[in-house]
Amino acid sequence: MTTIIDGKAIAKEIRKEVKIDAISFFEKHGRKPGLSVILVGDDPASCIYVNNKQKACEKAEMNANTIKLPKNTSMDELLDVIDSLNTDKNVDGILVQLPLPEHLNAELVLNRILPEKDVDGFHPINAGQLLQNKAVLEPCTPKGCMELLKRSGISLSGLNAAVIGRSNLVGKPVSMMLLRENATVTICHSKTKDLKAILKNADVVIAAVGKPKLITGDMLKPGAIVLDVGINRLEDGSITGDVEFESASQVASYITPVPGGVGPMTIAMLLKNTMLAAEAQNV
Ligand code: GUN
Repeated sequence: MTTIIDGKAIAKEIRKEVKIDAISFFEKHGRKPGLSVILVGDDPASCIYVNNKQKACEKAEMNANTIKLPKNTSMDELLDVIDSLNTDKNVDGILVQLPLPEHLNAELVLNRILPEKDVDGFHPINAGQLLQNKAVLEPCTPKGCMELLKRSGISLSGLNAAVIGRSNLVGKPVSMMLLRENATVTICHSKTKDLKAILKNADVVIAAVGKPKLITGDMLKPGAIVLDVGINRLEDGSITGDVEFESASQVASYITPVPGGVGPMTIAMLLKNTMLAAEAQNV
């Protein structure tokens, strides 16, 4: 029997929990937890993501403030905006939507956000604390993956986990989180020699490379737990993950669909991080 993990339903549950915490925060501090999102330029996908973040915040009784800056914004102008949000007591979380236009140095921009307001968990201080199992703010998508596993009642201790993809956004942080739960983790990437051999031995597979249908059912160990982080748009406009769902779902014990799996968890975890940031800065 294969269980399809319903990320939409789990994300909804988390958003409800966060809303309860946000209402308590308001009762205690006389203001709502606040998230500021900076969007530079008008990339259509980014506009949709930012709009969704704003709406989710408002539904969870949080203040959301989206700052839209023109595409030709300079580094100095952007850093000035971040500096003013860093010192604003009503702003608990700051998120700079990626990707940034090419003339802007994303690393310098992200590093300018105060670590305690870095709700994306991308700042080197937060990334370092994740390595030491001490982070308050952890990247939202990997955290969402772990929450899906936890809320599906899956214990990772002693399992072999294969992470496909080594990005700072997903692959590396999720590997550390799996390790923290006592999985034995193999990180695979474009230079990995025998992906098939690794997958055949993997009890858990996390696919985060952005290659449509890279993983097929015949590559999986029977009963594998499969989380698909990929969101790939095909030529016909449809969305598919890094896993071929039709074949993989015949072999897996648990699997996330795309859409409706890991995707909705990212925003839920952003709300959770905003709440954590607000609580940690307002003791
Ligand atoms: N663009 C796509 N995903 C993300 C994310 O998780 N955080 C930010 N800041 N930008 C993104």
